[in-house]
Amino acid sequence: MRNFPEDFLWGAATASYQVEGGIENNDWAEAARRGLVPKASISSDHYHRFEEDFDIAKDLHHNAHRFSIEWARIEPKEGEFDEKELEHYRSVVRALRARGIEPFVTLWHFTLPDWFSASGGFTRNDAPEIFARYAKVVALALPDVRFFISMNEPMVVSGLGFLAGMWPPFSMNPFRYHRVVSNLIHAHKEAYRAIKEARSDVSIGVAKNQSAFYGSNIIGTIPASFLNWWYNDRFLKRIKGFQDFIGLNYYFRVVFWMSAKEKKKHLHSDMGWELYPHGVYDRLMALKKYNLPIYITENGIADADDSERKQFIIDSLAEVERALKGGAPVKGYFYWSLVDNFEWTYGYAPRFGLVHINYEDGQKRTIRPSARIYAEIIKNQEIKNKRSDV
Ligand code: FCB
Repeated sequence: MRNFPEDFLWGAATASYQVEGGIENNDWAEAARRGLVPKASISSDHYHRFEEDFDIAKDLHHNAHRFSIEWARIEPKEGEFDEKELEHYRSVVRALRARGIEPFVTLWHFTLPDWFSASGGFTRNDAPEIFARYAKVVALALPDVRFFISMNEPMVVSGLGFLAGMWPPFSMNPFRYHRVVSNLIHAHKEAYRAIKEARSDVSIGVAKNQSAFYGSNIIGTIPASFLNWWYNDRFLKRIKGFQDFIGLNYYFRVVFWMSAKEKKKHLHSDMGWELYPHGVYDRLMALKKYNLPIYITENGIADADDSERKQFIIDSLAEVERALKGGAPVKGYFYWSLVDNFEWTYGYAPRFGLVHINYEDGQKRTIRPSARIYAEIIKNQEIKNKRSDV
């Protein structure tokens, strides 16, 4: 029985710095040279092998693909745009279209051109205008793209970079953090305006990370409700009227408070994140109030031996199906990630890919068994072996 809408989009996601390789002029590459984060180097060499990767996506029945543009490639110097690199991404879009795959383009996925980060990045007063100028150049250069995501996980990149001090620029300063969040809100709005002025035919959203926060008792519901508002909702509310769809990145839940003994009872990914597919249902139902189409722009698991991924995908999609039945306007699902890649401060150890990359053997690609299960679901539009039927 078909439970997903006919035009549902199915695919996987990647991000430029994590898969392309060969990017040296951004803030992460600079931090790697200073020994503060791992080096990405050649990565999965997707910059040269995207055709091969999209052949795999097609073979796996994907009809959509989310990827990001590396800002540092397009604008290597302030205000100077590189036509050759724009042409590269045009050929990426052409390769997707030729395979019947709908491109979802993220304009900024965490990494910043070095000139921008060195001059203050999103703490700069004129950051929103600088970002909007870049966004418009890309939107005009890629006329075959209908879906743009302005930015990926604004609350994560600002929190880890300006409060936790774990990501570039390694700051732990609540004032700067506050300023960055506010500039990101303005940057999104400015980019939305600039793109729409140039292209009224596109849909624009943000890929917004949401964790599912719960309280295990009455007291625990206090921080949980606060975080559901502060972390999950606030950004989306502040850009009201400036988004055509909501992008949901969901990975795990946070329970206030769970005992170590209770924690041990649950399955965890190689990242140590608890596997809690039901959270995607709860977040989707919570997002209904925005009355906008929802795309799950990321959901995935690090699982090097591919032992948990199959059931994780089945269970997560079963929760999406339930949310659809419950009236959530879900329009698509992007598994993170198409291929193994550079996982930020963790380097290459975590394996998120539907496709295994052998970094020791010329970045050789091997399709994991779980990718075939996802392909079957897409083909039949039906989920077999749900946990409830096993
Ligand atoms: C998300 C990021 C993505 C990837 C996954 C595992 O927060 O958007 O780049 O690292 O986590």
